Amino acid sequence: MSSLPTFIKLSNEKTTLIFDCQGRMPSLMYYGAVLNDATTPAMLGILSTRQEAKCAPVIEPPISLVPTHGEGVTGSPGLQVHGSKDQWSAGFELTAIEQDGLSVVFKASDNNRELTLITKVTLDADTSVVSYQSTVQNDGSDKVNVNFLNAASIPLSSHVDTIRSFEGRWSSEFVTSDQEWNFGSYVRENRRGKTSHDTFPGLITFPKGTTEQQGECYGFHLGASANHSIRADLMADGRRYVQFGELLFPGEVSLAEGESYTSPVLYSGYASEGLSLLSQEFHNYIRANILTHSAESKPRPVHYNTWEGIYFDHDVDTLKTLADKVAPLGIERFVLDDGWFKGRRHDHAGLGDWFVDEAIYPDGLDPLIDHVTGLGMEFGIWFEPEMVNPDSDLFRAHPEWALQTNNNPHVPFRHQYVLDLTNPEVVEYLYKVITDILTAYPKISYIKWDMNRDVNHPGNLDGQPAMHGQMQALYELIDRVKAARPGIEIESCCSGGGRVDLGILPHTDRFWTSDSNDALDRLYIQRGFSFFFPSEVMGAHVGPRDCHITGRNLSIELRSAVAMFGHMGIEMDPRELTDHEQETLKEAIALYKAHRHITHGGDLFRMDDDGLNVNFGYVSKDKSEALFAYNSVKETTRTTPNKFQFVGLDPNKSYTLSRVWPNTLKEYSPSILQKTDGQVFTGEALMRFGMQLPVLFPQTSLIYSVKAV
Ligand code: GLA
Repeated sequence: MSSLPTFIKLSNEKTTLIFDCQGRMPSLMYYGAVLNDATTPAMLGILSTRQEAKCAPVIEPPISLVPTHGEGVTGSPGLQVHGSKDQWSAGFELTAIEQDGLSVVFKASDNNRELTLITKVTLDADTSVVSYQSTVQNDGSDKVNVNFLNAASIPLSSHVDTIRSFEGRWSSEFVTSDQEWNFGSYVRENRRGKTSHDTFPGLITFPKGTTEQQGECYGFHLGASANHSIRADLMADGRRYVQFGELLFPGEVSLAEGESYTSPVLYSGYASEGLSLLSQEFHNYIRANILTHSAESKPRPVHYNTWEGIYFDHDVDTLKTLADKVAPLGIERFVLDDGWFKGRRHDHAGLGDWFVDEAIYPDGLDPLIDHVTGLGMEFGIWFEPEMVNPDSDLFRAHPEWALQTNNNPHVPFRHQYVLDLTNPEVVEYLYKVITDILTAYPKISYIKWDMNRDVNHPGNLDGQPAMHGQMQALYELIDRVKAARPGIEIESCCSGGGRVDLGILPHTDRFWTSDSNDALDRLYIQRGFSFFFPSEVMGAHVGPRDCHITGRNLSIELRSAVAMFGHMGIEMDPRELTDHEQETLKEAIALYKAHRHITHGGDLFRMDDDGLNVNFGYVSKDKSEALFAYNSVKETTRTTPNKFQFVGLDPNKSYTLSRVWPNTLKEYSPSILQKTDGQVFTGEALMRFGMQLPVLFPQTSLIYSVKAV
């Protein structure tokens, strides 16, 4: 012990972390703004001295990275294990600290109970994003059951008193709400077997008063795609911490000698100047470390998705007509959604039988694929591999392949069950049918990988809970499919945004953000999504004139303006488009293409939510060009709206301001729109003084391009 360092410091230009290793186990003593070298860890150690309080332990058990019963923790333990002996009370001693640049591995062991505990922490070189992952290993001959292992427990200072949480439902993902960090436990547990629409594994925390452009903030996100448990606790002794880990069912992880369990990765980010900066840290991290291609190496092609256009009504001639209609609009990728495989005429049948339906496609998919690629578009196809309909050949042959628990009826959910991916036979079947399709149709270059129900009974053939294994097997299957067809891109979809997380993103390329294509709903869904994820992975489609989910009738100008700021696509029956709508879509797609290097590679600046508008901008890294959006959702309470405050520009540069959307606007009287167009303003004027907004109809979007002269 004595030879181990007493403190570990990880620091870059964005943040500093200091771990206190003086006790039995390491704990995070400092995480926040960059500290200079004159501030020694020892100083902070002295400054954090706590005394014995009345009726309190002489020294409080620490909130270590993995707090244990062995340390006498009275908060939430980060490790919960049990076995035939006293493994439940494991208490560890640090045995090694291995630092390699900005990465440190803390190794600890409990020799009496024959357990090893490892936490790896890595600070990214260029951003404030830190990743944490813990492992517990059984070194004894008796089995050890793991009930919980946190990725990490992170103490936070008491001035961080507000929690921004994420909730939602199908078609309304990423709803944020702020609440005071109260005494006790703020706990969110997800048992849906998918990341879920309602309990995204993340939260943001900050001192009251932090805004989009000012104040400190911390973001936390667990990269897990099944069940999770996240909490933010304020203890009676005044200390507070967050704790993130996978939620395991009883008996789900049982370790034989030499076996180990590793938690998902917890990602944390820090910003000293506002929530937009925090998002930029995550976006930059994801771009550099997780995505396999960039806005420069492969711009995100504009999609046409057949779902809201024709649903299950597949017919080769109709699909060719759709392709003919959308190609001239500028569409670059045609995605054939649900309905192409055997028996899939509706959502009651077919899942599992991944063979082209000869009744609908008598000559296979080639005639359609050749037609689509002949028009210059890529071809993508929909799968929902983890699912099976009871009405399918697969289920009739293998009812035992569905996850289930004895004597408990399935919970009905979209007429489908979940396949057991912990059964290697199931995985081999899925790998074969998917790759057979890819082999038969080498021009398929994109898969929309869907997952449309909860996993209510995750019991495998042995009667054991299998959600953890299911998640690992899913990642492996996706990787194998990708390896079988290098370069293929995969979209993670789950009835919209039910599987959006950094566990699955390293294996996929983009998300379907929400089944709601309602542009007004989308403004808020996309805003919530943007806290952690960059816009190039945010699937965003222009939906039908009358939104199929909300019934709202929204202009093509608004629908286009909203979709343009994600990975753009369209999803409707193009035969219904009026001439004006076609023209407008064409212009919108051209505008998206001209600016996707900024929206997919630049910095996002959100403006604070005023309850009336959703405003934001994307600024190129060199601050030479930017695109700003003003979306008026509700009518202003005053006769004239406020100013639009541009953000993120260089105050010392001069910029040409051009309104690039929409081309025609209904106005009450001549306005500033005519005066500003094409004029040059300093960055300082645009940011500090701002621009008076015109009086517009609500539900109007204005997009401004700003270019340095
Ligand atoms: C889910 C997806 C949709 C569509 C349908 C097909 O709901 O989110 O985009 O693919 O399944 O059944």
